[in-house]
Amino acid sequence: MMPAAMTPSATSDDVKRANARYHDLAAATYDAKWGIVYDARAERQTVGKLRRALGGSGQGFKHALEVGAGTGYFTLNLLRAGVIEEAVATDISSGMLDEMQSSAAELGLEVETVCAQASDLPFPDGSFDLVFGHAVLHHLPDLRAAFDELARVLRPGGMLAFCGEPSHHGDRLAAVPKRAALLAAPAWRRLLRAPPRRHGAVDGRGHRGCASEEDSLERIVDVHAFRPGDLARHARRVGLTDVLVSGEDLAASWFGWANRTLESTAAPDELPRLWYQFAYRGYLTLQRLDRVMLEPRLPAAVFYNLLLSARKPA
Ligand SMILES: C[S@@+](CC[C@H](N)C(=O)[O-])C[C@H]1O[C@@H](n2cnc3c(N)ncnc32)[C@H](O)[C@@H]1O
Repeated sequence: MMPAAMTPSATSDDVKRANARYHDLAAATYDAKWGIVYDARAERQTVGKLRRALGGSGQGFKHALEVGAGTGYFTLNLLRAGVIEEAVATDISSGMLDEMQSSAAELGLEVETVCAQASDLPFPDGSFDLVFGHAVLHHLPDLRAAFDELARVLRPGGMLAFCGEPSHHGDRLAAVPKRAALLAAPAWRRLLRAPPRRHGAVDGRGHRGCASEEDSLERIVDVHAFRPGDLARHARRVGLTDVLVSGEDLAASWFGWANRTLESTAAPDELPRLWYQFAYRGYLTLQRLDRVMLEPRLPAAVFYNLLLSARKPA
């Protein structure tokens, strides 16, 4: 999920079609790839993110809408945690919503899923107490139309909250650990006795050197990285108040980028389990450091992820 500028030749419809197709293709392996689970830790994580976005407020919400809900990471964990009572989840990819419905069935949760674009929400005005999303705004080519819709379907007094949006500076700063990791990769592979990855990706039919459909779509699907002011302006333009933009994940995301870059240079499946345990635990430890030391002190713009919240005037 690396944000890139919208390619000059891609129209808004191209980006939407690419997103639907890319996420349909990704749906079956999405949870495994991003470590999405439904347990007490994931509940704490999603509740923590939502509360941070809302500036610490811990209230519950009766009727909530998630936009770009994917396989359900936020909606299903927030339902389990009891922070939202009833959920409607939309996405442009029916494949992602199918995955969400099967997880919801396994968890014994009820969620209404609707295949819809963020810029055209099929709900009456003022339908929801909370409209939220995670890692979705940066995929939307028509943010103005999307914010018009988000504000329209919020009830007066309702809250908007978005988390996990890539920041402009954070995205550029992420190049530093990636470059450092590439330099360190040969020594790191020797240390772990991991053979190098052979050049040229293998496509879906097993041909080395042919880009897979997912690889080609990946260049189109991410269209924004935000400055805090960009997000705040979108919210204010549609009449929302109490606008708050904050940042999260700095040390943790540097560590994560460095590790993913190192891993990309080694033969897949040849890395010891211990390495993955180290990477996972290290990430969680640094995330705690970010929360306690860095997030209260540094400006939102330097963090990798931005969070936005705002209220619809009553
Ligand atoms: C990075 S995934 C995040 C999914 C989920 N929110 C999560 O955190 O796991 C982005 C999601 O946004 C959806 N999406 C992309 N463009 C969209 C659009 N124009 N309208 C609605 N959803 C969209 C994708 O299909 C995908 O499920």
